[in-house]
Amino acid sequence: MPANSWTRHHILSLADFTNCEYDTVLRTAASFQEVLSRRTKKVPTLQGQVVANLFFEPSTRTRSSFELAAKRLSADTLNFTSATSSITKGETILDTAKTYLAMGTDIMVIRHREAGVPSAIASEMDRLGVKVSVLNAGDGQHEHPSQALLDLFTLCTLLDPAHPRLELLKDKKIAIVGDILHSRVARSNIWSLTATGAEVHLAAPPTLLPKLFADYGKNRPGKLFLHWQLEPALENADFVMTLRLQKERMSANLLPSGREYHRLFGITRSRLQRLCKPHVKVLHPGPVNRGVEISSDLMDDPEFSLIQTQVTSGVAVRMALLYLIGSGKTA
Ligand code: CP
Repeated sequence: MPANSWTRHHILSLADFTNCEYDTVLRTAASFQEVLSRRTKKVPTLQGQVVANLFFEPSTRTRSSFELAAKRLSADTLNFTSATSSITKGETILDTAKTYLAMGTDIMVIRHREAGVPSAIASEMDRLGVKVSVLNAGDGQHEHPSQALLDLFTLCTLLDPAHPRLELLKDKKIAIVGDILHSRVARSNIWSLTATGAEVHLAAPPTLLPKLFADYGKNRPGKLFLHWQLEPALENADFVMTLRLQKERMSANLLPSGREYHRLFGITRSRLQRLCKPHVKVLHPGPVNRGVEISSDLMDDPEFSLIQTQVTSGVAVRMALLYLIGSGKTA
């Protein structure tokens, strides 16, 4: 994609992201990673712009990471949490968004437990004819684009720190293991990882991996496989992404117990060493149920775990996203 040609106004989903857009995000994030390694980690790029973090659902990583990213770009930041807002007095979500619009917000970063809320706010901003951009920071079980992009950046920079790019993951085997049914992270990662030409293997108990997930693999450059046992997904895997059991989204008893889940699907050092490629790395978007989806010792082992790197990458990637939609320029 040539310079100054980023045209996407909102980032709501990765379903229609192009390879050029992925590579632009990776390249731009790499340039901000370099900025973040300097003594002075701030650039004036978004000076005078207002970034509002509207979080209607709890978050540690995403909210703080977007806030820090906006501050590193010299934007002014507003932070909203629904529990301490006028939502508790009956104000609607759209009226909340319009209130932030009236304060001069340029970019709204939105998380909500219902799928579609960021899209609805983006449509309202477009209908009003204002130039506000909306970034989806996780909506229900739908998508979490910035998480998948930081995961992609983490993997690509591991393979080529100077020039992270999509083609580096072509033909790699990547296993995504866990509560895929309830995971917006899995859905966004399926879009981004199949765009690279990687083999993506989903593994979970049948209750957490319905067959309809096979549809996500149709007409994608990379192949998508479904497994209801762990071993075939891990065999010769280059990367393993584990996902949290989202008990807050489970409407029925979909699993016997966390202990039983760990016995059958838990990611442990011995399983990685027995089944995967020798240099396998493990990812987790967080927050983690230690000892359930991943063993506690593996999570903290820098030889295998990229979990802290993912968090660090998140700031550079979110700087890139804010920069690209905030200025419409490429690095
Ligand atoms: N990965 C992720 O979205 O974490 P938070 O819920 O802490 O933002």
